[in-house]
Amino acid sequence: MTPLMAPDLRSRVEAIRWYHTIDLGGGVVTRGVDDSPVRLARAQIPVSLHGKSVLDIGAWDGFFSFECERRGAARVVAADHFSWHGTGWGTKAGFNLAREALGSRVEDVDIDVMDLSPERIGTFDVVLFLGVLYHLRHPYLALERVASVARDYLILETVVDLVGLGRPAMAFYPGRELNNDPTNWWGPNVPAVVGMLNTLGFTHVRVATRLPGAFHRGARALYHRMRGKNGLTQAFRQDRAVFHATR
Ligand SMILES: C[S@@+](CC[C@H](N)C(=O)[O-])C[C@H]1O[C@@H](n2cnc3c(N)ncnc32)[C@H](O)[C@@H]1O
Repeated sequence: MTPLMAPDLRSRVEAIRWYHTIDLGGGVVTRGVDDSPVRLARAQIPVSLHGKSVLDIGAWDGFFSFECERRGAARVVAADHFSWHGTGWGTKAGFNLAREALGSRVEDVDIDVMDLSPERIGTFDVVLFLGVLYHLRHPYLALERVASVARDYLILETVVDLVGLGRPAMAFYPGRELNNDPTNWWGPNVPAVVGMLNTLGFTHVRVATRLPGAFHRGARALYHRMRGKNGLTQAFRQDRAVFHATR
């Protein structure tokens, strides 16, 4: 496939509402709501994925899928359903255009997290499960499905809540408690994520992000409160964390 020329590309890019910020080359960068390059640095995906098969669950516009391809993966599958066809504002147009513009060979599979299985999609050397867990009503069941397709290495990123509580626990968001978004349901704490992954056969779980201390969390909670996005006490206990799990 021939990559698109910048003037054509620019007008097509502007017609789409983007989630990811993707550099499509020729000076064209999508205006996503997500600061994807910053999140990429935090995710600590291996610099080389040479020869690996990668599954990106909840890929949306595909930023992380394309990045894995760029890092040498032999095969990358971008899987999603909700933001491609669901009731939210997302569509698949961004993924399709980015793949065309980048001349990418990333494959796409339209599948809900809860329907993942080795029979439906196969198994993969590396599985990315980034920014999805807290959107799911049945997180442990979802992780079971995710674990079933991960041969060895899972990179999971999620909102964490109840930070500081030593026992495994999850906060429940029956309404719009987290970021005023009704699609957010559960915020596990770090011990809960580690515990779930351990019970699903990942014997080594590394927390790849260092959670900030109380002062930093307090300042950030105040900022969120002022923007009307979250309550002060909840925000103080919340963060995002990245986990690298192997069997
Ligand atoms: C915050 S985005 C994260 C996208 C990408 N993985 C990333 O980290 O940038 C959440 C993703 O979860 C997917 N998802 C799966 N099931 C969902 C559900 N029940 N509700 C909302 N989002 C869901 C969405 O389609 C979307 O791609």
